[in-house]
Amino acid sequence: MKLDQIPRLPLVFGPTPVEPMRRYSEALGVNLSVKRDDFTGFGGGGNKVRKLEFLMADAVAQNVKVLITTGGHQSNHARMVAAAARHFGMHPVLVLRGNRPTEYQGNLLLDRLFGAELEFLDPDAYFDEIAPRMQAHADAATARGEAAYIMPVGGATPLGALGYVQAVKELAGQYAAAGRKPPQYIATAVGSGGTLAGLAIGVHLFWPETRVVGIAVSGSAVPFVERIAVMATAGGELIDAGRGWTADDIWVETDYVGPAYGVPSDAGNAQIFRAARDEGVLLDPVYTGKGMAGLVDIIAKGKIAPGSDVLFIHTGGSPALYPFAAVLNRD
Ligand SMILES: Cc1ncc(COP(=O)(O)O)c(C=O)c1O
Repeated sequence: MKLDQIPRLPLVFGPTPVEPMRRYSEALGVNLSVKRDDFTGFGGGGNKVRKLEFLMADAVAQNVKVLITTGGHQSNHARMVAAAARHFGMHPVLVLRGNRPTEYQGNLLLDRLFGAELEFLDPDAYFDEIAPRMQAHADAATARGEAAYIMPVGGATPLGALGYVQAVKELAGQYAAAGRKPPQYIATAVGSGGTLAGLAIGVHLFWPETRVVGIAVSGSAVPFVERIAVMATAGGELIDAGRGWTADDIWVETDYVGPAYGVPSDAGNAQIFRAARDEGVLLDPVYTGKGMAGLVDIIAKGKIAPGSDVLFIHTGGSPALYPFAAVLNRD
């Protein structure tokens, strides 16, 4: 099948804009632009809306009534899944990594507004318990006669990854319409890896000269490059992309996680201030701040040559600014 033949329910308020980052470009000695996927709109926006276009088409086709997923306390994915569930008349169940909070802020607040059923798993037990707990919610729904759908963390499935193949197709159209050559590099934050997998397939199909670099914002038991190569290969098979990917084909920088996933880093926070004050762009402390910190550093280290045309995918996440007010509320 071709990309256009895979069922997709439009959710993105797009095409999302591509904007120059003029002060960054001048300071870094590259031509930096940003794809505003923080403005995909639906459910508060962010990269997951693109994956959900494909995943919700699958869920709706199965007449799903209960939509189950997981993530951290400030999971943008979980928040957008809750919104998508409501949009299609489903009941959202979020099994989140973290103890029951005393305060519901940021994405947790939005999860509650969407009326999601929330379960919290102790962080130390999470990796053992998450699969059986999500399955238990699915089994309970099935016993009630309701079809359930378990969406893995980050919507990181080969089908979900197609959202970022679609994004590169959208970009190729935008650049062509503006008479611009494709960028030499695309950079993005990496969590579950679905976005990077989709970008890898997308550039193969639409911008074969463009290199994709991911900045990891968490650790990974299986190295990112291996997991993402497998996901890209499986996603590519869905649309007859005509090639497979190995770990050597995938570029992920892993030095910019900071203290831990979900814990702000000094370098990431510095980029939150810089992007806000230099460009009027809101990054976030969990994903895009760290992603930008990585991009700035690899440019400084010469891994991306001076003068290159670089596109940063702004994947969203601004709801997570608010729970971190204590570290960000300064001059
Ligand atoms: C704001 C933001 N940026 C980046 C990512 C990472 O995307 P992926 O999980 O596809 O690697 C996520 C997903 O968790 C996100 O919410």
